[in-house]
Amino acid sequence: MNSTIDLLKSHRSIRVFKDQPIAQETINELVEAGQAAATSSFIQACTVIQVNDPEKRQQLATMAGGQSYVETAPTFLVFCADMKRHQLACEMNDAQMQSGFTEQFITATVDCGLFAQNVAIAAESLDLGIVYIGGLRNKIADVSKLLDLPDLVYPVFGMCIGVPDQNPEVKPRLPLSVVLKQDSYDDTKDRERLADYDSHVKTYYQSRGSNLKETGWTDQISGMLVKEARPHMLPFLQERGFIKR
Ligand SMILES: Cc1cc2nc3c(=O)[nH]c(=O)nc-3n(C[C@H](O)[C@H](O)[C@H](O)COP(=O)(O)O)c2cc1C
Repeated sequence: MNSTIDLLKSHRSIRVFKDQPIAQETINELVEAGQAAATSSFIQACTVIQVNDPEKRQQLATMAGGQSYVETAPTFLVFCADMKRHQLACEMNDAQMQSGFTEQFITATVDCGLFAQNVAIAAESLDLGIVYIGGLRNKIADVSKLLDLPDLVYPVFGMCIGVPDQNPEVKPRLPLSVVLKQDSYDDTKDRERLADYDSHVKTYYQSRGSNLKETGWTDQISGMLVKEARPHMLPFLQERGFIKR
């Protein structure tokens, strides 16, 4: 349709990078592109930690469950939902901030998602590759300690960025009919649509160049969703001042 939409539709996560550093000016440009995203009520609640220290990178790779590219990617950014400077803003205006609302947690987290996706697209527009690293939340308390994150700040995910040294296929997404509904939520045909999608995903996994798998989408998802999902998140976030009311 146009080159922006073509770029968006050609996204695939990159996990192998050339040993080629990214200039700090480029990283600054990417982060400024992130800042340009829409932000709930102008709260601008995302702080990015660029992790350069090799020792910290190695520890983060381990904390993320042994994801070696966290250590080896030319650039690694941690996107943090940050309501701390809002506390400062209130203090500067002799006001007492009311924190801990779930609404604030949602807006700060959404802000990070939008910011990071802008960074991702900006990077891809420069022929760089990216992969998000939600694995940081496996050990969210350790990650927060390593990066000196205070209360009212939490690491939502990381992102590896670099020049790709692999060329993986684009992963097929759900059929449009499953994700785009007209006027109301009607999922009466979704069972058969998902079954079709399963075959499509199986064909994709069988035809790709590496890491061949015998799996569809629904079995992958059900395998994941029968397990607990990082149950430490709620107490951690509450301890840090989020989702208390
Ligand atoms: C918030 C978020 C966290 C993710 N965390 C990881 C991760 O820890 N490790 C990883 O290898 N991929 C991670 N991914 C990448 C997804 O696995 C990937 O986007 C998905 O399988 C679709 O593949 P694609 O990006 O190649 O289209 C993450 C993606 C998102 C959006």
